[in-house]
Amino acid sequence: MRSGWFVRGILRMGVSVMVLVAPLIAWGDEDQAVAPEPQEKALPRLPPRAQEPADVRAERIAGLRRDEDQAVAPEPQEKALPRLPPRAQEPADVRAERIAGLRQVYEGPPSGWPRPNVDPGVEWVELGTLPPVAQPDENPPTAAKVALGKMLFFDPRLSGSGQIACASCHDPDLGWADGRTTSFGHDRQALPRNAPGLLNVGQARSLFWDGRAATLEDQARVVILNPHEMNAPAEATVAAVAKVPGYRPAFQEAFGSDDVTLDAVARALAAFERTLVGGRSKFDAFLKGNPKALTDEAIAGLDLFRGAARCLNCHNGPTFSDNQFHDLGLSYYGRTLEDLGRYQITGEADDVGRFRTPSLRNIGNTKPYMHNGVFELDGVLRMYNAGMATLRRPTGEPKPDAAPFPTKSPLLRPLGLNDRDLADLKAFLESLNEPRGFRRPPILPPSDPELKQNLNRNLTPPAADR
Ligand code: HEC
Ligand code: HEC
Repeated sequence: MRSGWFVRGILRMGVSVMVLVAPLIAWGDEDQAVAPEPQEKALPRLPPRAQEPADVRAERIAGLRRDEDQAVAPEPQEKALPRLPPRAQEPADVRAERIAGLRQVYEGPPSGWPRPNVDPGVEWVELGTLPPVAQPDENPPTAAKVALGKMLFFDPRLSGSGQIACASCHDPDLGWADGRTTSFGHDRQALPRNAPGLLNVGQARSLFWDGRAATLEDQARVVILNPHEMNAPAEATVAAVAKVPGYRPAFQEAFGSDDVTLDAVARALAAFERTLVGGRSKFDAFLKGNPKALTDEAIAGLDLFRGAARCLNCHNGPTFSDNQFHDLGLSYYGRTLEDLGRYQITGEADDVGRFRTPSLRNIGNTKPYMHNGVFELDGVLRMYNAGMATLRRPTGEPKPDAAPFPTKSPLLRPLGLNDRDLADLKAFLESLNEPRGFRRPPILPPSDPELKQNLNRNLTPPAADR
């Protein structure tokens, strides 16, 4: 079953990038075939195959779909799949012609784009421009609330030490991330995970790498209280903010009461975060009808992303995330850097090593990558090309309290892309970057002079409230 599925997968890749993959399709009969002779003379050009009439095409595609439905979803991987050699690099003229063809297709509306290379059972949504952020009924945005949230986001007085603001780790100049492998928290403690950029965070269906917060309101409360991050007991945060004379009128305006509560702080922060929206990338400009916005490389990369590179299996929809959790083999199971991801929240065996699919929008401005921030973009692409590492099951008796051994997502496979392909893929990812722009941080209301002396409130942190 598996090999049939595998061959079908390769064939499907062939559909989207016929010319390039031709050598791969022949690859199966390798053993019997006689090695072809070196070419001295150019082979005759092939005229483009005839374009089928619309009804023939529709019927053929319906057939392809049926084939999908019957296929069985692949099983999780424990053994590494064989490496694929990089596919042959096409001559410049062939490439130019292929890209010209791709342009014609991709310059049309996404509904007419080729069917992506997505496995059976995967629910996917086409790439596209961002919809407006959904606003929760419990916390409708107002200009006053957003303005207050913005001040609070940049204000270190929210933290126990009076030194760390949200913006310390989510810096607008660094794609609303911090550019570090992993962040430093309270007392410069090294945190275990990489700080995600917050652009378009209002579109995420769950938050944190392991999805442990459901809403931005919850998320803000958790971070403020977390002894390793901002380390501010609720009463202390509230007291510190309430003592800043300038904040009271701002709360009054935003909430109709000048009562400073943790809940109001969290709601203002969340309302501000929902205003961090992108949509000015080159890819967006292309989707909105400017064909010049994407280079030839990026166009070839877009086709790879949806086709032979299989990225759309998980990074799909306008945000480039399926909002699901997958194990890419990066849990470092049983090793120093071990992070079991979603399993720590749900306790489900299937969740060991799973992390939330991050958005890829603005990706060029939020390095380094992955939940542990260990990787650069080139490294990430090379790992995907190899099908990601397959962990070895530790030998010997497992410890009684050991988590179940993780199994890598079956959606990952060696891709056989060549260096040119990887460069194209990268060019496409870079077309998702947002222009940086210049943002002035808000002017914060000055502290009460007395309070300045005593910012480091040495209160007992709350019982591991995270
Ligand atoms: C000390 C650094 C630090 C500070 C301060 C900090 N964060 Fe974060 N933030 C992180 C890290 C690290 C993560 C990822 C943690 C994880 O997934 O386990 C994160 C995750 C998030 C997420 C989830 C993003 C996503 O895509 O899942 C949001 C939203 C967020 N922070 C908002 C805030 C707000 C609001 C504040 C201020 C109240 C704040 N952060 C303060 C480091 C920080
Ligand atoms: C099986 C689902 C899946 C597929 C297929 C997949 N990704 Fe991912 N991707 C993820 C998940 C999950 C993460 C986060 C993993 C982690 O941190 O451990 C991620 C992380 C990334 C990151 C790092 C983002 C960041 O902010 O740190 C990049 C870049 C990326 N993927 C690009 C790609 C590209 C390009 C492809 C196609 C070659 C691809 N992905 C295919 C699920 C997938």
